[in-house]
Amino acid sequence: MSVHKEDTRKVTTHRLFEMKQRGEKIAMLTAYDFSMAKLIDQAGMDVILVGDSASNVMAGNITTLPITLDQMIYHGQSVTRAVTRALVVVDMPFGTCSGNPVESLKAAVRIMKETGADALKIEGGKEIIEDIKKIIDAGLPVMGHLGLMPQSINKYGTYTVRAKDEVEAKKLIDDALLLEEAGCFAIVLEKIPAALGTRIANRLKIPIIGIGAGNGVDGQVLVMHDMLGITQAFSPRFLRRYATLQDTIVQAVGNYIHDVKDKDFPNDQEQY
Ligand code: KIV
Repeated sequence: MSVHKEDTRKVTTHRLFEMKQRGEKIAMLTAYDFSMAKLIDQAGMDVILVGDSASNVMAGNITTLPITLDQMIYHGQSVTRAVTRALVVVDMPFGTCSGNPVESLKAAVRIMKETGADALKIEGGKEIIEDIKKIIDAGLPVMGHLGLMPQSINKYGTYTVRAKDEVEAKKLIDDALLLEEAGCFAIVLEKIPAALGTRIANRLKIPIIGIGAGNGVDGQVLVMHDMLGITQAFSPRFLRRYATLQDTIVQAVGNYIHDVKDKDFPNDQEQY
């Protein structure tokens, strides 16, 4: 039972800030389509992320790189049609925010205008800070994303834990401070040492949402297909599975096939 089921007020960036101030943890989960977004919103989720992980779990790509701006807008529209309470954040896909502030703002405006989302999420720090400032200065709320940045997988060459050494940890802290100063309303930290996550959450005023960043941050985010056990091959240490829907679905579909072949479905009550 969700603690938020009775609280139907819309979640805003300001309310997330207040949650951090009073020590209330923020729950965030991805969604990419109308039906699932509706259920997740009904359950009382604070933030729904239309992640570019849609590229993996919806489209079957190996990385998040191939998903396009139009495809992200399609997913964003499907989710915002369903959601009444959660703050909806849409990822800016690979290549749409990469060092050309005017072009980045154009893509950001398209997402906000065409999806009706509440905010955007952007991967990256110092290297794209002018793009981020331009978008925020135009009045669009931005959630940053540091640590493991899946859009940069070809640069890293691995999905292992980031910022384990002092040099990378220092850059991460500097980037987080830059994002806060630029006006980001929150930051996602992905797959970094828990102690570093806690250090950044304690230093910054804006909420820090972790995915594999330990328990000392201000909230947690997971990919819906992973936490519901729809995908089962992906099993990082940070993932807690709350259901095994793959088994449930395969069994239900198997039962349906069996009933059709057996001429058991439809029965007398299931026809006109
Ligand atoms: O695209 C996504 O799902 C994300 C989360 C992993 C934070 O960025």
